[in-house]
This record gives sequence, structure tokens and C-alpha cells, in this order.
Amino acid sequence: MKSIDQLSISGKKVLMRVDLNCPLSKEGDVADDTRILAVLPSINYCIEQGAKLILCSHLGRPKGERRPEFSLGPVAKRLSEILGKEVRLSNDCIGDQVKQDVEALKNGDVLLLENIRFHPGETKNDHTLAKELGELADIFINDAFAVCHRAHASVVGVTEFVKECGMGFLLKKEMDYFHKAIENPVRPLVAIMGGAKVSSKLGAIKNILNKVDKLIIGGAMANTFLKAKGVDVGDSMIEEDLIEEARSILEKASSLGIPLYLPVDAVVSRSMEDAVQIIKPYGEIPTGWKAFDIGPATVTLYREALQDAKTVVWNGPLGAFEEKSFSRGTFAISSTLASLHALTIVGGGDTDRAIHEAGDTSEISYMSTGGGAFLHLLEGKELPGVKALERCGG
Ligand code: 3PG
Repeated sequence: MKSIDQLSISGKKVLMRVDLNCPLSKEGDVADDTRILAVLPSINYCIEQGAKLILCSHLGRPKGERRPEFSLGPVAKRLSEILGKEVRLSNDCIGDQVKQDVEALKNGDVLLLENIRFHPGETKNDHTLAKELGELADIFINDAFAVCHRAHASVVGVTEFVKECGMGFLLKKEMDYFHKAIENPVRPLVAIMGGAKVSSKLGAIKNILNKVDKLIIGGAMANTFLKAKGVDVGDSMIEEDLIEEARSILEKASSLGIPLYLPVDAVVSRSMEDAVQIIKPYGEIPTGWKAFDIGPATVTLYREALQDAKTVVWNGPLGAFEEKSFSRGTFAISSTLASLHALTIVGGGDTDRAIHEAGDTSEISYMSTGGGAFLHLLEGKELPGVKALERCGG
């Protein structure tokens, strides 16, 4: 598959799908520009090469309606500031006005199309929308890793209506890191799976069990695994209907000889809001109390498990980190990762946020920009957006 620097883009109209789904502040400004910064290498490359760049993105989930609060206006403003040049926002992503805006582009100019999800056809991979979009440009570049798990018109369908396709620098980097970590890792490979629900991580856990040398499970979902082992978890959140699944995962790990680490203690409280919190070993959590974070003995156990790791993949926080008092476990493991001589890869919106809040992220080898897309890869599935590029011959 070709990457953007293997295509001749000078003077060409380049439609680039990016994921500029940035959180906005109450005032309506971009609150976190990580996703804008992540696609700058591809954008700058297009500008330097003198392409006519047409950016296409979604923002939020406006459900096929034109809703002003989901406009990409604030993103156009922030991108203009970062680039130090005007980025015009088109009033739509298809139609006569958009065609005129595209025709007016000079080499090196950048145009941002309005939120593609204002069109109901986007999420349905609608043929007509994909065609109109594709016909705006000569070349399609996908640099939107975080949306590549969606078979949407601007991600998949559009590739049928352009002469050439390719991947942007961010998509390439994401796929390369993932391959290095999961498909061709320097061993030992340790995966840390956290988050609230086993149900959302089941596919990923089952798949990576066949690839890792050690598996660490934390977050509220660890309670279901502990329950499956017959450990009393007090009134902690569990998923009753997944206890059997959890048990079979534990059995599979044991039959494969893969050490699977579960928490041994927890920071417990009666509720998230309750100021009274105590540390309790699992098995001794009183009735009416729930686990909200891993405890210090668990941090030590996980740290030891990570010491010899050469590759670490982490998805999902280990406690309710959004409450300061339940963030210590996640932050402690984040700083452990930073101290390892290993390739460390973190993916998933919440995990990224937790690690950013924990402080310096520069020692983490790679922070993926994808939440759902990263999980999709961990589940061993192909990304429809990447498959479409392959079909297109890009
Ligand atoms: C994300 O934030 O993970 C991507 O932008 C995809 O958004 P979606 O889950 O609304 O498709």
C-alpha cells in the first residue's frame, strides 16, 4: 500500500480524510488539539509539495443533521493558528458551493469541509455521497486512523471514486507501531487490559491471549474475573452474565501457560462521591463497599510483572481515574511504563487521557490516537478503512 510520500501530489487536488474529532470547551473552542497535531505531518507535506488540500472530518455524532454545535468552525480556526495560514471552512462537504471552493484553491492552499456527519449517508457508506466526495479530488489520502474501524462513506466508499489512494503519515505510523507491538514483538510482550466492562474488552482479551507472554487485567472488569475465581469482591461492579466467559479465559490462560495477573487489593468506598476510602485486600471488602482503584499491593505486583517486559501494550484505565482519589493506580502504572526499557504502546481514548493527566508522556513510545480503532486491532480484526485503501491499490 502506498503512503502519501510515494504519490505525486504536486498541483493535484488531494482529499484527505482526517479525524479532527476534538473535544470543544463550553465556549466552543478546541479544548484539546492532540488530533490536529497528529495529522500535521501529512498536512504540512501537502502544503510543501504544492497540493490543493481538501480536508474532510467528522466531529461528534450529529446523527445526520446539520447542527451548529457540531460545526468544524473551531477546528478550522485552531488549525489556521497552528499552520499560520488561512484554512477556509466550506459550508458543506458536497454541492456546488464546495466545488467552487475547491476550484478556487491554489497550490499549497488548505480547505476544510464541514462536518461529514451532517449527511446521513456518511455512516451508511452511501454510494452517492461517496461519489460526490471522491469527484472533488484526484487523490484520496486516509490519515484518520481513529475512524478506520468505521465503514463510512468518507473512509471506505470514497476510495472507489478516486484515481489514486494512499495512507497518510499518521495512519502509517499507527499501523507500523501496532504491527511492531502485537504481530512482531520483541519479547516478553505484556498486555495491560483495563476499563469498566469485560463486555467491551472480551474480543480483545481473547485475541491477545494467543499473542502475549503475560496478561495484566485491572479496572472494574477485574472484579468479574475475581468473582469467577470465587473471590469475594464485596459490592463491587461485576457483570454476572460474563462470569462464565471470564472463567473460560482464566482456564485458557492457564492451559496456555500465560501468567494472568489480577488485583490483590483495592481502594474501596461506599460510592464514588464518598470521601471515606480505605484499602482492602480482595476477599475482605465489606458488604456495601466497592472497589474503585487497584491498591498498593496490586501496583507492586503489576510492577514486578512488567520489569522484564520488552514490549507493553496498554488499553483501558485501572481505576476510576477521573476521581483524583481513585487515580493513583493508573498513574503509578503509567510512571512504571515510562521507566521501562521497552516499546510501550498505549491506546484507547480513556487510557490516553489518564496518562496525559498523570504527567509527562514523552517516555511512552507511542500513544495511539484511536480508541475504537485500536481496540478493533486488538480484537484481531481488519480495519475497513485500511482494507479499502488496499483494494484501491494505494
Ligand atoms: C473516536 O473519537 O474514537 C473517533 O473519532 C471515532 O468516533 P465515533 O466513535 O463517533 O465513530
